[in-house]
Amino acid sequence: MMQERLQELQEEALQKVSAASNLKELNDIRVAYLGKKGPITEVLRGMGKLSAEERPKMGALVNVVREAITSAIEEKQAVLEAEAVNAQLAAETIDITLPARPVNKGNHHPLTRIVEEIEDVFIGMGYTVAEGPEVESDYYNFEALNLPKSHPARDMQDSFYITDEILVRTHTSPVQARTMEKHKGQGPVKIICPGKVYRRDNDDATHSHQFMQIEGLVVDENISMSDLKGTLEVFLKKVFGQEREIRLRPSFFPFTEPSVEVDISCKICSGKGCNVCKQTGWIEVLGGGIVHPNVLEMAGFDSKKYSGFAFGIGVERIAMLKYGVDDIRHFYTNDIRFLKQFHHHEA
Ligand code: DAH
Repeated sequence: MMQERLQELQEEALQKVSAASNLKELNDIRVAYLGKKGPITEVLRGMGKLSAEERPKMGALVNVVREAITSAIEEKQAVLEAEAVNAQLAAETIDITLPARPVNKGNHHPLTRIVEEIEDVFIGMGYTVAEGPEVESDYYNFEALNLPKSHPARDMQDSFYITDEILVRTHTSPVQARTMEKHKGQGPVKIICPGKVYRRDNDDATHSHQFMQIEGLVVDENISMSDLKGTLEVFLKKVFGQEREIRLRPSFFPFTEPSVEVDISCKICSGKGCNVCKQTGWIEVLGGGIVHPNVLEMAGFDSKKYSGFAFGIGVERIAMLKYGVDDIRHFYTNDIRFLKQFHHHEA
């Protein structure tokens, strides 16, 4: 009787185990058949009524049935667990063949690149980089540069005044005076100063009310025009190519005497004359000269002991010539299609 009952239980349990479709169902089956309140425990309890001979036989049989059910459950459990892992893996699969979202990489503004390139050339020649304020006093912007209040050359640079004595600087030259003052009459001074400057100009293809300059200044004993020429030759050839030639023309600036305008040979026509160089074969790139003794003296330098040269570079002009840009406004309207063209120049 008991034997049959056990046989039935085993069959029933194994059927249910094989039909179980998830781990919870399987656990319910385990509790139902092997748990404390389950039918097998009940059979064991009933064994007290059996004879001493039958008891061990029945005990062994119960163990066989219990083990059969246990191992069936374990096998099924392994199968269900593997299925669960596979299902999760399938659900979480990443499709690596999908195209990635594009990453928009920025790059330096062309003017920043030109400034850094020019800085590198001069740092290589022993210069340090100096800075000065964009909101400047009339004194440093003009007077300290040998441009007293009544001086007609003030008209060369139409200014944005904030008060009678304060303006936004019209050039980077005031940094010359500021730097020399800091040196307290003691040479050598060897600086370049990049920065923004402002002029009351109407914006067009070659004018911008705000643009950039790089000022250069060297003060030491026995500085002459040939030092300026040699320095500018090294600089311009580094930036525009070793095959370019330079030329100095006499000019006028109140803060230098003598003053020069510096040209480089035209790359387009190699000096023969074309539209870009207006048939002259030369392109003007910067101004400079020998620092006026008044400028040295006002900043506390003995002009009998010291002399110096100075120059002012228009950054946009250099960038326009180097990259073939025909309108200065491109640098300030920041059209992404313009700026992107400088990507592949990036080092
Ligand atoms: N400050 C001048 C300008 O803005 C440029 C310049 C010319 C600077 C000659 C100098 C210089 O230092 O020596 O037009």
